[in-house]
Amino acid sequence: MKLIGVVGSGSTIVYAPLIVYEEAEKYAKEEQLVIIEDTWRNIKFLGILRNVKRYEPFLNIYRRTSFVDNPSLVESGTLPHTGAYISIIGALRAFKLESVEIPPNPGSRVYVVEGKEDLKVNLGRGLVVGVHKYSGVEIPLTPESIPFHVAVVGATGTGKSRLVKALIDEILNETGYRVIVFDHAGVDYVPYYRDYVAQASKIVLDVSVISDLILERTGLDRRTYESYILLSTLWYAFNKVFPKLSREEIEKLGVAELRKGFTYNVLSKLVSLIDYGELTRFMAKYPIEWRSSEYRDYALKVIDLLKGRESAKVRLGISLDVRLGEGFFKSLSGRNVLPSDIVDLAFRQKLVVIDLSMEDPIVKKYVVSTVINEVWKKVEEKQESVNIVAVIDEAHNYACRYCGEPHKAITRTSREGRKWGFGLILATQRAIDIDPEIRGNINTWFFSKLQTPSDFNEISAFMNLAGISESSLAILEKREFYIAGLMNPLRIPVLIKVKEVPLP
Ligand SMILES: Nc1ncnc2c1ncn2[C@@H]1O[C@H](COP(=O)(O)OP(=O)(O)OP(=O)(O)O)[C@@H](O)[C@H]1O
Ligand SMILES: [Mg+2]
Repeated sequence: MKLIGVVGSGSTIVYAPLIVYEEAEKYAKEEQLVIIEDTWRNIKFLGILRNVKRYEPFLNIYRRTSFVDNPSLVESGTLPHTGAYISIIGALRAFKLESVEIPPNPGSRVYVVEGKEDLKVNLGRGLVVGVHKYSGVEIPLTPESIPFHVAVVGATGTGKSRLVKALIDEILNETGYRVIVFDHAGVDYVPYYRDYVAQASKIVLDVSVISDLILERTGLDRRTYESYILLSTLWYAFNKVFPKLSREEIEKLGVAELRKGFTYNVLSKLVSLIDYGELTRFMAKYPIEWRSSEYRDYALKVIDLLKGRESAKVRLGISLDVRLGEGFFKSLSGRNVLPSDIVDLAFRQKLVVIDLSMEDPIVKKYVVSTVINEVWKKVEEKQESVNIVAVIDEAHNYACRYCGEPHKAITRTSREGRKWGFGLILATQRAIDIDPEIRGNINTWFFSKLQTPSDFNEISAFMNLAGISESSLAILEKREFYIAGLMNPLRIPVLIKVKEVPLP
């Protein structure tokens, strides 16, 4: 420990002014951990140094002094000194951190914590993703806060994904939680967990999302074409699956009474009889080959049945042939995994990383929302804690207000997850891209250098930042993050350096 100064007048139970000794000035760096020794009352306090400033009694920019007229006066001497604030974390008593009842006495000596050995305090067991930047003290994060949700924000390249990787490993090693990772680009998590990867390109898409994809990719006007496309897709999927079904399965699908034939009546009966959940399940059990030319035949027949115009057929034909092509239909084919299989896998092997990289944004959203909804189905079935964490990196694609289905699923989880051991870890470049309702339910924040200045206000709106300034964030380096909120055992935000997470 190095003595750096004494507590000045005006301390409170949350912060203490510090007068830094001249020769110790170079040791008084912002974010250092310090110990205040109040020998009068025999109390030690732990705190963090913030707002380090250099003062001079006469060089006051608001007061006119002789220095203004006689610049050479500076040569004959000035009286500078360093002052700072200590954000008080707690009182140190018998290796424990306790709450502060009285302010430290002015005149108390202040020491910088230089290493782990200087800080004899038991912070409990927890998840360690890094150490305090200057002292190297490990900050064990409280695992009980996992279902109260975590966000990681910072400009691009600050090390968010690596931090999340470190957090996932700690959760897997130290807790009973299962983890489902949605790897948006397939480069941040997939390479680390090859044995746990599930390809999103194997997940069965339901009839409505296939129709959305076709409409979106072809650019066909929804007002005219949505009904054609929906019915064609349903008809195609049904006809591919039906011949493979047993009598029991046909019953299950709800279509036992359906007559054969391709008439308006049959189609409309199908629409009202079929169990869509079962259809999707059978699409997984009996994977479908989707072919462009066949789909086109179905679509043209549907337009006929619905008495559509010839011109609609032409436009649809062109769109399917030119805008989509065989590659698109191939990407729909051979899918045999259900979102519920992914959740079951997470229960069995504790970790699943879903590689979303090859998928269209519509499919990515579908996968995120359906997998989260399947977890909720488990909760509803069992009425007990599921102990699952969903990791959503690049969360602005899923948790924004206008992100559709995943937004709904994430909002529900953020609101109700805590009751059922269902936590979220969201990582994104800008906090403001996460819907405020979700943001308000996140109780632990890691933040580094920020992409957008207004984010600082966003975070400070629901966290006590205990004297951290926006300018101190701007100078953070890669791998340096503040941790604030429930997971932080120190109660006020501390600066950590994330542990080395090498490439696999
Ligand atoms: N903990 C770490 N250990 C080792 N290298 C790291 C660590 N954190 C960051 N890096 C380095 O910084 C680079 C960027 O890290 P990372 O991909 O985690 O940033 P990011 O904040 O997720 O960026 P983006 O917003 O672009 O996704 C990494 O490729 C790596 O070289
Ligand atoms: Mg990243």
